[in-house]
Amino acid sequence: MNSTYQAPRRLIKTADEIEKMRVAGKLAAEILDMIKPHIKAGVSTLELDTICHDYIVNTQNAIPACLGYGAAPGRNAFQHTICTSVNHVVCHGIPSESKILKNGDILNIDVTVIKDGYHGDTNMMYVIGETSILANRLCNVAQEAMYRGIATVKPGSSIGDIGHAIQKYVESERFSVVREYCGHGIGTVFHDEPQVLHYGQADTGMILEEGMTFTIEPMVNAGVWQTRLMGDKWTVVTKDHKLSAQYEHTLVVTATGVEILTARPDEDLSRFTA
Ligand code: MF3
Ligand code: CO
Ligand code: CO
Repeated sequence: MNSTYQAPRRLIKTADEIEKMRVAGKLAAEILDMIKPHIKAGVSTLELDTICHDYIVNTQNAIPACLGYGAAPGRNAFQHTICTSVNHVVCHGIPSESKILKNGDILNIDVTVIKDGYHGDTNMMYVIGETSILANRLCNVAQEAMYRGIATVKPGSSIGDIGHAIQKYVESERFSVVREYCGHGIGTVFHDEPQVLHYGQADTGMILEEGMTFTIEPMVNAGVWQTRLMGDKWTVVTKDHKLSAQYEHTLVVTATGVEILTARPDEDLSRFTA
């Protein structure tokens, strides 16, 4: 039998908090736009990181949330502003002077900023020059998977509906969904409850309510869903070294549906009614 449960009250944001999330979300989205003309063959991922860092700190007067985040036993804190995940890197790729982008690469940039105490978290894929038909299709499927997950969001639906919609679509395209990493509640806390799985059963998990804020960020693999963590304890790669792609938005559940807080001008979001 399926089961659902109610969210703890603290996960429901007030109108004032949602307004601050809107501001943070817009700043995060702007970075993905701002960095676009800088992404080309011959550029290192560290150069992209530096540009994003300086823009967040000096232009946006905001805080890069990833910088210094996530120290744990056996793992140093993340030392950069963005995650740069190229080709078979699934997520949490570390910007590096020696990682030079080349024609045909696919790159995910994931950025999280803090403004006025609230987080905005988003990521997208970029193609360097021209890439394969497969790589293009993988990126498109990852984006559409995210949109299909977002499209289920409204008061009264469940967290499980999101993962179900994503998994069903991705597997129908003969790709796989990463299991070990998920979306998350977000607000003053970077990674809060609930965990938003990108696979699973409809009508299971937490019931969505107006004012909940969380991310949806499916990672889609061309081969098997299994991943491996590198020795740096951050970089996640596909187990079979085939390509991986990801898209992420931060959103809020509205009275009748969903509002995407990290929307960019280049996106066609006409299917989503807030
Ligand atoms: N932005 C990532 C997410 O979507 C988290 C990155 S944590 C970092 O949740 F420390 F690696 F930056
Ligand atoms: Co992110
Ligand atoms: Co996230």
